[in-house]
Amino acid sequence: MNILAKLPQQTITTTAIETHNLAKIIAKQLPKDSILALYGELGTGKSTFTRGLAEAWQINGPINSPTYHFFNIYKGTRQLIHLDAYRLENPEDYLELMIEDYLSSPFCIVIEWPEKIGRLLPPNALRIYFEIIQDGIHRITVGQK
Ligand SMILES: Nc1ncnc2c1ncn2[C@@H]1O[C@H](COP(=O)(O)OP(=O)(O)OP(=O)(O)O)[C@@H](O)[C@H]1O
Ligand SMILES: [Mg+2]
Repeated sequence: MNILAKLPQQTITTTAIETHNLAKIIAKQLPKDSILALYGELGTGKSTFTRGLAEAWQINGPINSPTYHFFNIYKGTRQLIHLDAYRLENPEDYLELMIEDYLSSPFCIVIEWPEKIGRLLPPNALRIYFEIIQDGIHRITVGQK
C-alpha cells in the first residue's frame, strides 16, 4: 500500500507541541528504512518535527541542529540521521558525506533544506512541506504540494 495513503495529508498546527505530535503519528507509519525531505523556510518547524520523530523512537537527549558535521546520528528503537543541508555548497557535497556508510536498519534519514541536494536527493524520499500561513499558524503538507 502506498505510504501516503496512511499519512495525514495536510495538518494545521498552532503550537510546537502540535507539530511534535504530528511527527509522532507519522513516525509510527513510516516504513522501516525511510528518507524524509523536510522543505520550508527558516523557523517553519522542521527541527521541531524532527524532535517529535526522535521522541517516538525513544531517543533521549537533545536534538540540536547539526552544525559542524552536517549530520547527527541518534540511536533509539530506530536510527535517526538528522542532516541539515543548508550549508552544503553543491549537491555533490551530499555524496561526500557518505551517509550510507553509517546506516543501520531500521533507520530514518531526515533532511532539512533538501533543495541544496537538488537532483541528488534520493528519489524515494518522502517530501514534507512546512509553511507559516499566518502568525502562529503552521501548515504541514505530506507528499506533493
Ligand atoms: N505550530 C508550530 N510548529 C512548529 N514550531 C512552532 C509552531 N509554533 C511556534 N513554533 C516555534 O517556531 C520555531 C520553529 O523552529 P524550528 O527550529 O523547528 O524551525 P526550522 O524549520 O528547523 O528552521 P531552520 O531552517 O532554521 O532549521 C520553534 O521555536 C517553535 O517553538
Ligand atoms: Mg532546523
